[in-house]
Formats: sequence, C-alpha cells, structure tokens
Amino acid sequence: MINKTVPQSIRKLLEEHKQGHLLTFWHSINPLQKDDLLAQIQQLDFTQINNWLEKLVINIPSIDLPVNLAPPPFYPPSPVNNQQKNKYVQAQKLGTELISTGKVAALVVAGGQGSRLGFDGPKGDLPISPVKGKTLFQLFAETITAASERFGTICPWYIMTSPLNYQQTIDIFRSHNYYGLEKENVFIFQQGTLPNFSFDGKILLADKSHIACSPDGHGGILKALIRSGALENIKKHGIEYLSYFQVDNPLVTIFDPLFIGLHALDAAQMSSKAVAKKGPEEKVGVFCLLDGKLTVIEYSDLPPEKAQQRKDNGSLVFELGNIAVHIISTCFIERLSDRKLSLPIHRAVKKIPHIDEKGNQIEPDKPNGIKLESFIFDALPMASKSIILQTTRKEQFSPVKNAAGTDSIDTAKQMLTDRAACWLESAGIAVPRKPDGSPDCTIEIAPAFALEKDDIKAKLSRIPKINPNDKLYLA
Ligand code: UD1
Repeated sequence: MINKTVPQSIRKLLEEHKQGHLLTFWHSINPLQKDDLLAQIQQLDFTQINNWLEKLVINIPSIDLPVNLAPPPFYPPSPVNNQQKNKYVQAQKLGTELISTGKVAALVVAGGQGSRLGFDGPKGDLPISPVKGKTLFQLFAETITAASERFGTICPWYIMTSPLNYQQTIDIFRSHNYYGLEKENVFIFQQGTLPNFSFDGKILLADKSHIACSPDGHGGILKALIRSGALENIKKHGIEYLSYFQVDNPLVTIFDPLFIGLHALDAAQMSSKAVAKKGPEEKVGVFCLLDGKLTVIEYSDLPPEKAQQRKDNGSLVFELGNIAVHIISTCFIERLSDRKLSLPIHRAVKKIPHIDEKGNQIEPDKPNGIKLESFIFDALPMASKSIILQTTRKEQFSPVKNAAGTDSIDTAKQMLTDRAACWLESAGIAVPRKPDGSPDCTIEIAPAFALEKDDIKAKLSRIPKINPNDKLYLA
C-alpha cells in the first residue's frame, strides 16, 4: 500500500499537459494523501486548463480598452416627476407584497479570502457595530429577523462560502445558535475553487499532497447554487427573487421594497443598485452601456479619460458606482444554467503561498502567480432586462475592505453612527455634533429598533437625551 503506484493513465495525462511536477512528492506522502492527491488531479479539466493557460496565464490577454461606452439609464433615489412618483408608489406596494408573500430571500456572498483586511477567519465574523461590537453576520441576521417580523413572513437566508471558510462559517453559526434564526431558514453552501498557476503555466502545489486552489470568484455562485442544492431549495420555497449582497457592507438594505418592486414591474432579470462615485479614482466598478449592453467595468479597466469625463453640471459622466447589490430573478439563474451559459474568467496576479520543487514553503512578498475567478456582474449583459436604482451612499454603502484608512473598519463604524444620527435627527431628536459636523457621540440602532428612518418616530419615548461623548445603543 505504501508503495502504491500512480495509475499510468494519470502519469501520462499529467506529462502530456506538462504538469508532471504535481507528483514530485508522491514517494514521501502517505496512502491517504496519495488517494487525496489523485482525486484532486482527476478533478482537473485539462481542456479548460489549456484554454486558460493560452488565453489568461502564459499569454497576457490584450486588454481592448472599451470604446463604445455610454452612461446607462437609471432610476434616481427619489422620483423626479409625477409619472415617476406614481411608478415608485406602485413599485413600493408591489415590492412589499412580494416580500410579504415570501417571494424574496437574502443571498450573501461570503466566500472571499479578505486578504486586504488581514482578518483571520470569515469576514462575516468581523466585529463592526459601533457600540456593541456585533459582527457582520449578526447584523445581517438581526436585519433578516426584523424584516421577517415587519413583513409578516419568513425570509430565508442563503450564504455562499468557499471550501476555505465553509466549516468555520458553519461553526460560527452553530456556536451563536444561528443568531436567533431557525436553522432550516439558513442555507450555507460552498462555491468551487480553481487551481493557481505560476507565471509559466505550472499548477502550484500548496503542500506535498494538495494543489494550490482559490475560490472561483463570486460569479461561481451560479454553479454553486445548482451544485449545492440551494437552487432546488429556493424553488421549493417558492422564492422568485434573490436579494444579493456582499458580506463586507454593513449598511446594506437587504429587503428594499422599492428596489424589488421596480425590478418586478419592469420584468427585469437582474438589477443593480448604484451610488454616485466619490470621484474619478474611487475603486469601485462602474455601470456602463458597452455596445448598448449594461456592463460593469472595473475601475482598473476604465480608461482614465472616461473615468474623468464630466457633464456640464460637473458630475462624472460615468458616475454610477457598483455597490454589488442586486436583485436576481430565480428564473434568470435557471435560464443561464439551462443554456449552459458560463461567465467569463478573469486573471488576477496575486501572492500565492506554495511549495517549490524541493518542498520548501514559499511565502511570497510580491505577486508570484495567477488566480482565476469569475464575477457575478458579468451576468448583467446576459439579462434580457436590467434596471439600476441609484441610492444614497451614507444610507446604504460602506464597504469594509482595508485594515485602516479608506473603506476600513473605522470608516464603517463611523458611517453606522452617522446614519443613526441622521435617522434620529430626522425624527426631531437633538444629536450633539463636533465643529466639523460629525456626531459627538457613538450611536448604534439595532435592526429590531429601526430598519429605516421612518421607524424612529414611533419610538421617540424610548430615546434618552443624548450628551456629548455618549455611547447610545437603541434596541
Ligand atoms: C467588488 C466589485 C466592485 C465593487 C465593489 C463594491 C469585484 C471584482 N468588484 O470589489 O465592482 O465596486 O466590490 O464593494 O467583485 N467573494 C466570494 N467568493 C470569491 C470572491 C469574492 O464570495 O471567490 C465575495 C467576498 O466575500 C465579498 C465580495 O465577494 O463579499 C467582494 O469581493 P472583493 O474581492 O472584496 O471585491 P472588490 O474587489 O473589493
């Protein structure tokens, strides 16, 4: 058994594809590890791999800078004329009805590695609320509970993880008793992975018996929903719309009747929320019409002259930043899978820990290889209809990407307090402010207390006077 040999067919396959090095340590690994390694090799699809090697790994794809770009139409945060006002009223009503009748579920992508943040563990476990230090997962769970009560229904929650953080995520949910949600209404599933490559096209080994792999991008959700049985579960619950968001945005409005209603009224298949970019350099994808099709162009791919182009009123021509909040119709996911439509694969040059040919562990301090991933927004051009609703950044978008500085834990905490302060002031409560206008206190509003600013008015008697430096928690 110890001397188990490599099946001839596998050795030949690897040699044919110049990946024979995957067996370098065959004689120093135990039988279980040998079986495990063989299983990983059998999973490799060399037709696809050769295609990626040719188009994305060994050869650097020539980036055709998009030329035929135009800004897309969008719905503004508030209606601008009577016709639109009527439509928003109708949409709000329809969206409320769809949520109340159990047609909408929450879907979060939480499979990323959060490498920029340097947080050890699934990003959803990051403490973020400004007073109580609730984690992202807890905030979302409490929002889902409050929305279920508000709409008189049960809103299920689908959570995509990756093989790298699935078990940890399950353990976190178990140890917190699913944050008060019923276990059967929380469906945690795994996305796939793709192998990592050196610049010369060799598949990297993470250790002597494991191929280095990374999650296949949030676009992997389309396949993962089907493979994991989540889509079956979604259909079984009669869910027609998925409210998609990223785990890194504590300000997200998960159940927004207006957004859902506009999507349904316009018979859209996949819709998006956007915010006005802070400036040409902000690192968010931008919504554009590319040859007439709605597309997100990543900030790194948008030609600088387009990023900087301004309208007569001074605002950016390409001003709609992608906040990665979508409504996806269940039937759209089915259509994509029936037609076997797959999303394009993108290359990302990254630092990839691995072992070298002598078995030494390499922890690179600069990018040394290529990861491959697909993006959910690449499904937008495949939708027969898609709408964009512009929303307000301070109400709905504060991504936690970095350990410090822009888009960090500190900025998200500050924005949670800022939003809470505005909600209280809109109900007539005085909030102490510093000379620069920022709140001179820390405020956290639990989702059970208010899901939106209009909820505050009914709770005025429960709100104490706020003094400078106070830490106020409203629950
Ligand atoms: C992303 C968008 C960008 C948008 C911004 C808003 C991409 C390529 N770009 O940027 O257009 O303006 O968010 O915040 O996505 N994830 C998985 N599995 C994966 C990879 C990622 O579930 O394999 C999840 C992460 O857990 C996270 C989300 O996807 O919730 C975003 O991933 P991230 O890599 O942080 O995206 P950004 O490049 O910051």
